[in-house]
Amino acid sequence: MTPCTLLIFGCLLHLAVVLSCPPNIILIFADDLGYGDLGCYGHPTSRTPNLDVMAARGLRFTDFYTTGAVCSPSRSSLLTGRFQTRTGVYPGVFFPSSVGGLPLSEVTIAEMLQSQGYVTAMAGKWHLGLGANGTFLPTRQGFQHYLGVPYSHDQGPCQNLTCFPPNTQCYGTCDLGETLLPVFLDEKILQQPVNFTELVPLYEQFSKKFIRKSVSQKKPFFLYYASHHTHYPQFASARYTGHSRRGKYGDALLELDGTVGELAKSVWEMGIQDNTLIIFTSDNGPETMRKERGGSSGHLKCGKSTTYEGGLREPAIMYWEGKIKPGVTSELASTLDILPTVASLAGAPLPKVTLDGYDLSKLLLNGEKSPRSNFYYYPPSIDPTRGIHALRMGKYKAHFYTQGAFHSETTPDPDCHITALLTERNPPLLFDLDTDPAENYNLLERFIPKELEPIVNAIQNERERFLQNMTYAESEINKGKDPSLRPCCNPACTPKPKCCRC
Ligand SMILES: *[C@@H]1O[C@H](CO)[C@@H](O)[C@H](O)[C@H]1NC(C)=O
Ligand SMILES: *[C@@H]1O[C@H](CO)[C@@H](O)[C@H](O)[C@H]1NC(C)=O
Ligand SMILES: *[C@@H]1O[C@H](CO)[C@@H](O)[C@H](O)[C@H]1NC(C)=O
Repeated sequence: MTPCTLLIFGCLLHLAVVLSCPPNIILIFADDLGYGDLGCYGHPTSRTPNLDVMAARGLRFTDFYTTGAVCSPSRSSLLTGRFQTRTGVYPGVFFPSSVGGLPLSEVTIAEMLQSQGYVTAMAGKWHLGLGANGTFLPTRQGFQHYLGVPYSHDQGPCQNLTCFPPNTQCYGTCDLGETLLPVFLDEKILQQPVNFTELVPLYEQFSKKFIRKSVSQKKPFFLYYASHHTHYPQFASARYTGHSRRGKYGDALLELDGTVGELAKSVWEMGIQDNTLIIFTSDNGPETMRKERGGSSGHLKCGKSTTYEGGLREPAIMYWEGKIKPGVTSELASTLDILPTVASLAGAPLPKVTLDGYDLSKLLLNGEKSPRSNFYYYPPSIDPTRGIHALRMGKYKAHFYTQGAFHSETTPDPDCHITALLTERNPPLLFDLDTDPAENYNLLERFIPKELEPIVNAIQNERERFLQNMTYAESEINKGKDPSLRPCCNPACTPKPKCCRC
């Protein structure tokens, strides 16, 4: 018997006893979507009908954290359950010509589940490296199928790309010196440059076909759908353009919401809703420097690239029909917890490495408390000599360093801007995130009140324990760039990168 027939046999036995099978997992990851951007998180003009239904029928998190306030680190943690420091995905992000990538020795959720007999696929933005001959592509990290632009869709010239309506140029210029944006199918370039007006329909088609095929083969599946929305430059296909009240940003978000609806519809059409967990969250806070085309962190402070709440606290919804009781939870949780949680639900052994996540399955299925009581905030440019910039323990958050960022420009709060230079805070700034989620009122402003001494001490001790126990892998991003690694559909052509067009 193949492992798979064993698995299905085991599943049927299991079915007879406890009526459960290894669940299908759909993980939807948004890009630069802020805490305040969804209708179900209070945005007044966003249209997100499908996410709102998912929130109403699922569990909506108010205190859910990503580990990196920029793309690559947060994605590495999502897929490995480990801080980016352990995997070397810091500082900053990968470029199309980066030499490094998420090390192949790391075990991703896809690899973990594949070894349990799951079929696996990914659509969308990878941003964990390409390397020579596609060394670091998703297909080398446990995904049997891949379709997508393997990095941010502003990491290439975008001024001449088609946006809807036809002959409209996309907003912005993006990275003019890079190669035209490629769409990969597995390890081959399918299209270069990308056509934004048909990209999301293509991803949806691929994803729905994968779901149908997995179900017809009676195999549990893992689908990782990493959307380009709502990152700059915003775009949308014909179906969604001009259909929101919130301009270009609203249309991009509406298309993302439409995908959530399409995937959920597939699940219901296949009749697998009782055995499919759908997780939705985002990589980091909003890029407010794009003004009305950036997102919103709602009432939270600052956005992308900062360690204020707006940089790392994200919308998160988990939906599993009949299994997860609908509601809202303020339990602490993180993208780090997804791998251990999925492992527990799928009955998969954990990778034999130091993990930074917790199994949330009892929170999801039984409404128990979260095993997570702390969260640790790393900035985008990690310096091991400084370590974390902030630590949350229960409702208290202490900032040891504060720093504004270019990505968080243009809001009225000067603390968010690039001009707010790196500043050590000793004693730390301390906020009560229950009474003051906006981080307005420093509890240690003038002196340390006696009743807060124990909490300040506990946080300091935890910071030390955490830092002593942290291992910093060699930086993959500092391995630098090699222009010859830029993806090109026509490898023999000159002059590069302009001739890479097929
Ligand atoms: C990439 O693959 C090609 C063809 O197999 C080979 O000639 C080339 O040396 C490879 N490049 C690297 C850097 O491995
Ligand atoms: C992009 O796709 C749209 C919709 O399929 C099509 O009408 C348009 O011609 C395409 N543009 C290019 C440059 O291929
Ligand atoms: C350090 O981390 C390892 C692995 O997570 C854990 O087993 C150990 O207890 C930690 N040590 C301290 C001092 O926290």
